[in-house]
Amino acid sequence: MLIISVILLGFFIPAMNSQEISQYIQDVWRNVTLPHHDACVIESQIDPLIAETWLRDFHMPDDDYFGCFLKCLYSSLNFMRSDGTFDQHEIVDVAHYMDHDMAEMCLENIDVEENLCKKSYNLCWCVVHALAEWPEEY
Ligand SMILES: *[C@@H]1O[C@H](CO)[C@@H](O)[C@H](O)[C@H]1NC(C)=O
Repeated sequence: MLIISVILLGFFIPAMNSQEISQYIQDVWRNVTLPHHDACVIESQIDPLIAETWLRDFHMPDDDYFGCFLKCLYSSLNFMRSDGTFDQHEIVDVAHYMDHDMAEMCLENIDVEENLCKKSYNLCWCVVHALAEWPEEY
């Protein structure tokens, strides 16, 4: 029983602690996306409450609304080019809480997904988990 508890704790405590994004990163994201936020909420028809709170709450619904909301932001910020590929230099330049290693890791193999909303979701998911798991590095 003790061993099982130790194993469970070992799994769940780090997992729970890591589901969090620093206030600084939340602030940078808010600043960067603010000029496009409202237009992208309308375009994607995402629930405005989720659009407002997803990063704070670590809540990333795997649906078209959220994916297309991200795609709209990424396109507006020129993170995504008109051909649907991502511009790593632009991303790291603007979202400066990321470095090239992280961007490269998250952009690796990303073009296999052809649905641009889903592709945006995949990028976001990767970045947010990387930021949460190695907060001391970013
Ligand atoms: C966000 O923008 C505000 C207002 O321009 C600025 O004071 C603040 O330093 C910015 N925060 C970050 C983390 O960039």
